[in-house]
Amino acid sequence: MKKFKCLCVVGTRPNFIKIAPILRAIDKSLYVKLLHTGQHYDNFMDRIFFRELSIKKPDFNLGVGSGSHSYQLAKITLGVERILKKYKPHIVIVVGDVNSTLASALVAKRMNIPIAHVESGLRSFDHSMPEETNRILTDHISQLLFTTEKSANQNLKNEGIKLNRIYFVGNIMIDSLFYHLNKKITPQKIIQKLFPKKKFELVKNNYVLLTLHRPQNVDKKEQLKFILNEIKKISDKFKIKILFPIHPRTKRNIKRFNLQNILNNKRIICLSPIGYIDTINLIYNSKFILTDSGGMQEEAATLKKPCVTLRQSTERPITIKYGSNFVVGSNSSKLNKAVNTIMSNARIRYGRIPLWDGKTAERIVKTIMRYLKEA
Ligand code: UD1
Repeated sequence: MKKFKCLCVVGTRPNFIKIAPILRAIDKSLYVKLLHTGQHYDNFMDRIFFRELSIKKPDFNLGVGSGSHSYQLAKITLGVERILKKYKPHIVIVVGDVNSTLASALVAKRMNIPIAHVESGLRSFDHSMPEETNRILTDHISQLLFTTEKSANQNLKNEGIKLNRIYFVGNIMIDSLFYHLNKKITPQKIIQKLFPKKKFELVKNNYVLLTLHRPQNVDKKEQLKFILNEIKKISDKFKIKILFPIHPRTKRNIKRFNLQNILNNKRIICLSPIGYIDTINLIYNSKFILTDSGGMQEEAATLKKPCVTLRQSTERPITIKYGSNFVVGSNSSKLNKAVNTIMSNARIRYGRIPLWDGKTAERIVKTIMRYLKEA
């Protein structure tokens, strides 16, 4: 039987979480090579994910690193072209919505290699986000569009994409979540292991996990200052600890804008970025999360944890319908209303989200195999 060759592309933290279950599910009838663009490269943004998620060492690493969007797109495009010419895969699998996703898809398209896009069809309708452009362009040039929720199918249909390219398979992030979550570990243990020198107590359901990295939130002084001040007010008002693992982009800007003093508060605990397994276990044990991440909205909804989203919109509306996602933007009164509701222990209804069942990778690989055999 003919053996097909497949190339999987990753570049950033969320990509690693999405590719791991697919690599596990790819059966022996498919040769697979992994290409890492190197968009993320630090131990805490990159290597720890490979170790924790048992992802094989990339077969190719472009070592692109940081830079402007144009720099990243250009470097990735040139590097991916070189690899595709050499490896000549029958299909390229790209995940998510980062620069690495779009750049590698563009090259594959130009070389007439079919593209499978995992996490297709999500739309924030906020065109100022680079991810929105990355999603739209990648979807329009891919052959197999794997969606996480029904609204994504609708978005794709509205954009004129033919139904026979769209496959509703569920959420690959939740495959990783179910595979790695450890419900027995206490938050105190996690923190002690990570930061043996830090002396503070962390009690289940009695802290908030905060993450911030979107350029809209962290690249402008006034906006970042506003958010940090609001966080400080919440921790003072409710006397609740806020755990804040700080993304490198955010850390650099806090320093650049001289905002460290706002975080000088005994209840705000600033940490280096933390790995995947600790993050999901800390979400599971928290009272609620405050975030501008996409994936964490999904993890919170699945773990039945309230999530306050510090963005104007979400491209994952199902987390509002079935989870308890409060999308508050930079509106102080909306933010406070959401936090008051959560802290008053108001009853929140959660639902089981269709196909977020830990079996998405199997469905994706089956579909890809069928496509290759029929092509
Ligand atoms: C990127 C993605 C975003 C995703 C996020 C996850 C795009 C357009 N953005 O944003 O969608 O949610 O990753 O984290 O692709 N840095 C380090 N070490 C690293 C990586 C980055 O210090 O390993 C620093 C650099 O100073 C860099 C900054 O972080 O300038 C931002 O990194 P970059 O890859 O440009 O974008 P992210 O903000 O991480």
